Amino acid sequence: THFDTLIKHGLIITAADRYHADIGIKDGRIVALGQGLEGADEVIDADGLWVMPGGIDAHCHLDQPLGDGAVMADDFHTGTRSAACGGTTTVIPFAAQQKGQSLRAAVEDYHQRSEGLALIDYAFHMIVTDPTERVLKEELPALIEEGYSSFKIYLTYDDLKLNDRQVLEVLALARREGGMVMVHAENADCIAYLTELLESQGKTAPVYHGEAHSAIAEREATHRAISLAELIDVPLLIVHVSGPEAIEQIRWAQGRGLRVYGETCPQYLMLTAADLDKEGFEGAKCVCSPPPRDKKAQEAVWQALESGVFQVFSSDHAPFRYEDAQGKKLHGEQADFHHIPNGIPGLETRLSILFSEGVLKQRIDATRFVALTATNPAKIYGLYPRKGTIAIGSDADLTLWDSKARVTIRNDELNHAVDYTPYEGIELGGKPVLTLCRGTVVSRDGKPTAPTGHGLFLKCDKPQPAKPRGTAKGF
Ligand code: URP
Ligand code: ZN
Ligand code: ZN
Ligand code: ZN
Repeated sequence: THFDTLIKHGLIITAADRYHADIGIKDGRIVALGQGLEGADEVIDADGLWVMPGGIDAHCHLDQPLGDGAVMADDFHTGTRSAACGGTTTVIPFAAQQKGQSLRAAVEDYHQRSEGLALIDYAFHMIVTDPTERVLKEELPALIEEGYSSFKIYLTYDDLKLNDRQVLEVLALARREGGMVMVHAENADCIAYLTELLESQGKTAPVYHGEAHSAIAEREATHRAISLAELIDVPLLIVHVSGPEAIEQIRWAQGRGLRVYGETCPQYLMLTAADLDKEGFEGAKCVCSPPPRDKKAQEAVWQALESGVFQVFSSDHAPFRYEDAQGKKLHGEQADFHHIPNGIPGLETRLSILFSEGVLKQRIDATRFVALTATNPAKIYGLYPRKGTIAIGSDADLTLWDSKARVTIRNDELNHAVDYTPYEGIELGGKPVLTLCRGTVVSRDGKPTAPTGHGLFLKCDKPQPAKPRGTAKGF
């Protein structure tokens, strides 16, 4: 065979193996793995580099309108451009249903928002906020069948949250149809109560966001979501877990044999509540929910990554500008913490942070890095083995890493449309030097090289990890 592209002499790392081999690519797919492959239009020398599956960022928000009128800074162009430059080749953002809107209309809206804009491949999770009879009986079953096989539900935020009865209905639907349910687990009433109490005491600075979003409120909602899923006998994935309280609930469930999965994000490794308390209004740059906690929580999150309590490492990129072009603070100089949009950028820095602080500092090995950032999300969301591994027949989605490079994070050099990164000035080891999506080089040395629109929409299969254990009677 004559290849389109050959990647020679790299150290290939998958979720299972590490070995030296050449990779032959034809028509966007991996068609050969072996020693001494020859004959290609383009040869890439990966001598001294690590070749890993392109990252899958299974939790990010792009061009998602918010209830209070806040606008996201990144659309499908700038968001996927930024992701590509950070070594990611697939993103799974959300198609969010608004209350009163049909789920089908929400999905169509996000197709319009993304059409022709993405540099890398993308699928959609749905966000179900209004589980009407029509949604449960017609729309969700059809959409799961059509390739939207995962969806997120919320236990907090007034415009998004479901009550326990609605959660049960939605979980039962997921069980019947084979969908994967993700849950944002925070107790809404606890947060509302604490927010009002803090405000009545004049405590409105960003640091109080962390107090209002107590770890106890996260723990309670995590436990409740697990219990509801056990009652229905359906798998469940707890997203953006921030610390030991929620981790203990997930570990407890896993220890009892429940199919409960966990996801965490870079902010819970790199930030603490002290970052919410920075000079002036700077703490607003680290407001996300759940909030970053303390050093002990960071250690617990690392331990859960090491020990396998977490299967997925995502960015939860939720991009809001800090200032407008004229330097005006978009959320006021002194906005109450609860008016600051929740979420921070992270698509481009996700992999580098885990590579540097996890792999190079020997907290996790390189195969687990691949599992957490590519292989597991592909399996859990029905994209495997097309995505998430290096194997014959898989898409040629690859990232070449220079493990010896040292890089200081500077927002000026990032490719998103947000005007800050919470990680400004942090020095990291290792960097993705070349990223290919279906055989096309989409980024080189942190700069985008793919044409706009290179990215394709992906339909997700019903994931095997979403299968129930078969313990519930009578469903
Ligand atoms: O603060 C966060 N995490 N914002 C993004 C939306 C969400 O809940 O994931
Ligand atoms: Zn969430
Ligand atoms: Zn999110
Ligand atoms: Zn207020």
